[in-house]
Amino acid sequence: MALRNIVTEGDPILRKKSRQIDEITPRIVKLLEDMAETMHYDNRGIGLAAVQVGVLRRAFVVDIGDEHGLLNFINPEITYQEGEQRCSEGCLSVPRKTGEVMRPMKIHVKALDINGNPFEMDAEGLLANCICHEYDHLDGILFTDKAIPGTVETVSEQQES
Ligand code: NI
Repeated sequence: MALRNIVTEGDPILRKKSRQIDEITPRIVKLLEDMAETMHYDNRGIGLAAVQVGVLRRAFVVDIGDEHGLLNFINPEITYQEGEQRCSEGCLSVPRKTGEVMRPMKIHVKALDINGNPFEMDAEGLLANCICHEYDHLDGILFTDKAIPGTVETVSEQQES
């Protein structure tokens, strides 16, 4: 595994739409493993999308430190959402900023895992928040686009995805 450089705001790649992954090659597996290592590197990351390491593919990793551990999502689809929550978010690609975003409280998501096996799961609370944030990255959307006006602030350190 290896650390990858994280692309930050201002780089136009973050605004592009990521493409579906047709085949899970060793190169894709390596990408996801590197993304997990990069996300875990300084303990601030709870999610990371492929575009954030400069690869326009529909994949992200999530680890909010709960019983699910590390989750890999390839070609994810959010098929259901319910309720609302007001979330304080940060992003590894928008360093040292935080803002509040309205997200669904519960979601259902379908994806392929790192072995190419389909899976689906329900998520709520922080996990739902994080999956929605990463999903937005696949369509070129940053949390600052959706932040409630007046809530974006500069902070010294916080969880980012
Ligand atoms: Ni992010």
